[in-house]
Amino acid sequence: MPLLSGKCRSKARLTGKTAIVTGCNTGIGKETVMDFYKRGAKVIMACRSLDKAEAAKSDIKMKCKDLPDTGNIVVEKCDLSSLNSVREFAKKVLDTEPQINILVNNAGVMMCPKGETEDGFETQFGTNHLAHFLLTVLLLPRIRNSTPARIVTVSSALHARYGINFDDLNYKKRSYSAAEAYSQSKIANVLFSQELAARLKEYGIQGINTYSLHPGVIKTEILRNLDDTTFWGARKTLNILVGPFMKSPESGAQTTIYCAVDEKCAAETGLYYSDCVVKRPASNGSKKEYAKKLWEMSAEMVKLGDYNPFTANDPGVKTLGQ
Ligand SMILES: NC(=O)c1ccc[n+]([C@@H]2O[C@H](COP(=O)([O-])OP(=O)(O)OC[C@H]3O[C@@H](n4cnc5c(N)ncnc54)[C@H](OP(=O)(O)O)[C@@H]3O)[C@@H](O)[C@H]2O)c1
Repeated sequence: MPLLSGKCRSKARLTGKTAIVTGCNTGIGKETVMDFYKRGAKVIMACRSLDKAEAAKSDIKMKCKDLPDTGNIVVEKCDLSSLNSVREFAKKVLDTEPQINILVNNAGVMMCPKGETEDGFETQFGTNHLAHFLLTVLLLPRIRNSTPARIVTVSSALHARYGINFDDLNYKKRSYSAAEAYSQSKIANVLFSQELAARLKEYGIQGINTYSLHPGVIKTEILRNLDDTTFWGARKTLNILVGPFMKSPESGAQTTIYCAVDEKCAAETGLYYSDCVVKRPASNGSKKEYAKKLWEMSAEMVKLGDYNPFTANDPGVKTLGQ
């Protein structure tokens, strides 16, 4: 791991704790799952491809086979480009998991060609933000019963590059820019985490902390769409020019792990991190009125209706009663 990279040095164990990580069959998410597993957690891998997720699970188990006191890994289907899939996943988890102590909203798509999710939202905004918004609010009643709990949302320093356009979040009126749409979805990640903390406070809910973060510039599959939205060979060129300076996925997972487990940030909430320290997000990612507006618009877009995640009763675990 590079010397100047932030590293989570906490030895905290997660025995008896349950963690959910979205989009974790590869990259930063997979490393996050491995770390939680090593710490003894039950980790639920929320992935769109069960085959890829099972392969990642086998690889993690193989790498950790000689370690003592590892936890458990469970693979579940969750396609964040479908709100229906998110609802199905949340229902399954609420039916079977007595507690959720850590939720990591990690999955992400970057600079993909213009497209829509199953529900008609711009792909990056819909996948990176709206699906995580819905997942979090659906699980919140159970998380409220699992304190202390942490909700970590993986954003990017690229949130600072462009703005958020509340008049046209889904690119129905303006021409599409893959880079701008990624940036907008990552601003949404920061604002969401900030507003979630504010609303938890408003409702007097203690013991749930929220964090958003930039993982660094990490060598993963995140650039997979680059050739389609810039020029042919862009991915290869970037890998040659910037590749040597990119960090490993293990290094890229450190700030996520820090936010999820480290004692040092246990009293912090609603903040943005990079290299395991608090950083000030760009102005678009720190405006309270933006965060509030995004929350209200997101609730409408995912059709929350009368459901209030801060007061709704925990539906209870079905298998416990059987
Ligand atoms: N790498 C970097 O330099 C960097 C920098 C800043 C921020 N980030 C953020 O870090 C997070 C992790 O990215 P990464 O670098 O590890 O990229 P990655 O290797 O491409 O991993 C992304 C993960 O998200 C999953 N995913 C994508 N769309 C999904 C969907 N619709 N439903 C469920 N899962 C989905 C992917 O699954 P499939 O394999 O099935 O597609 C994959 O497991 C992202 O939020 C990204 O924006 C990364």
